[in-house]
Amino acid sequence: MTLHRKQFILGGIAAACLAVAAPAFAQTGKLKVGLMLPYTGTFAALGNAIENGFRLYVDEQGGKLAGREIEFVKVDDESDPAKATDNVNKLIKRDNVDVLVGTVHSGVAMAMAKAAKDSGTMLIVPNAGADAVTGPMCAPHIFRSSFSNWQPGYAMGEVVAKRGHKKVVTITWKYAAGDESVGGFKESFTKAGGTIVKELSLPFPGVEFQALLTEIASLKPDAVYTFFAGGGAVKFVKDYAAAGLKKSIPLYGAGFLTDGTLAAQGADADGLMTTLHYGDSLEVPKDRTFRLNYAKAYKLQPDVYAVQGYDAAQILGIGLAATKGDVKNKAAFAAAVEKARIESPRGTYTLGKTHNPVQDIYLRQVSGKENKLIGVASKSLADPGRGCRM
Ligand code: BEZ
Repeated sequence: MTLHRKQFILGGIAAACLAVAAPAFAQTGKLKVGLMLPYTGTFAALGNAIENGFRLYVDEQGGKLAGREIEFVKVDDESDPAKATDNVNKLIKRDNVDVLVGTVHSGVAMAMAKAAKDSGTMLIVPNAGADAVTGPMCAPHIFRSSFSNWQPGYAMGEVVAKRGHKKVVTITWKYAAGDESVGGFKESFTKAGGTIVKELSLPFPGVEFQALLTEIASLKPDAVYTFFAGGGAVKFVKDYAAAGLKKSIPLYGAGFLTDGTLAAQGADADGLMTTLHYGDSLEVPKDRTFRLNYAKAYKLQPDVYAVQGYDAAQILGIGLAATKGDVKNKAAFAAAVEKARIESPRGTYTLGKTHNPVQDIYLRQVSGKENKLIGVASKSLADPGRGCRM
């Protein structure tokens, strides 16, 4: 062997050893988190609850995750998909955030997922259920701490069928969340032999329900299934009761119908049954401390949105702990999150391969100011993740 070749081989071995042994240096600078949430409009309360939950977890860790101080940059996305790409690009390109956290509205979240994919920026979705985010748009650096729109709908289809209802009218906003929630409901309800008599809708964020309620009265279904949330949910529940329908046609919904809304809905919500991954009377020790700490910090009772914000911060903390604060080490970050058991106020869950929670969906019933737990409608329900290739 020539001297030159010997040197070449030895050099190669040394380089390989270095690559294996190279220590992962801990990142210690501030970590910039871009919060893109609705702070105005029908989902404003939801955005605020998510931010509160996220900050609560960070504060419980002393303001740092994996040794890195958290700095927040905020954008009000107004739940407006038309402004979403500009808004998310402000956070990515102007503010150079390390992580994106958002949002509530499915249409806005899809624009965020596209921008996150194009730029390689880490994204944690703390509410929006757009099935595509953990379906065709899934990616190693996109995570969701909430639910897919399909999940509560699918669980409720089984409940409504078991309760003996055969003919159902659905009513919702005409956008991804409404369509997919109804889609999940329809899938399990028709599988169990039920029929969807009519699918009614109105554009988001409209609240002119009167003509649609008149149509429901004339169709006389056995029951109604609905997806509304935030300010729209308050108005729908009140209008449904005012139209005299609450007495004659049982109303069921994805749990957003009555979460964070009961103070405004009052007696009109009493008795309503919904399905969701959270409730007000869970026997979960983590929930007890979470509710106490949240009430102490914000002088408010938490809701499902606050839990999802809290868990978004937990997921970030898990990934950062595994990568010594290096958010750019996406493979190690994802591996840690995928094998984690997340100790949530909703109960323990995992994220699975598509990065959407595999979780219990509870059946709840409104009693006074609470969504009281009746039971588990669907145990460890995983979104099918249709179209996700990772
Ligand atoms: C959504 O757009 O995905 C959504 C909005 C509010 C509550 C639940 C889902």
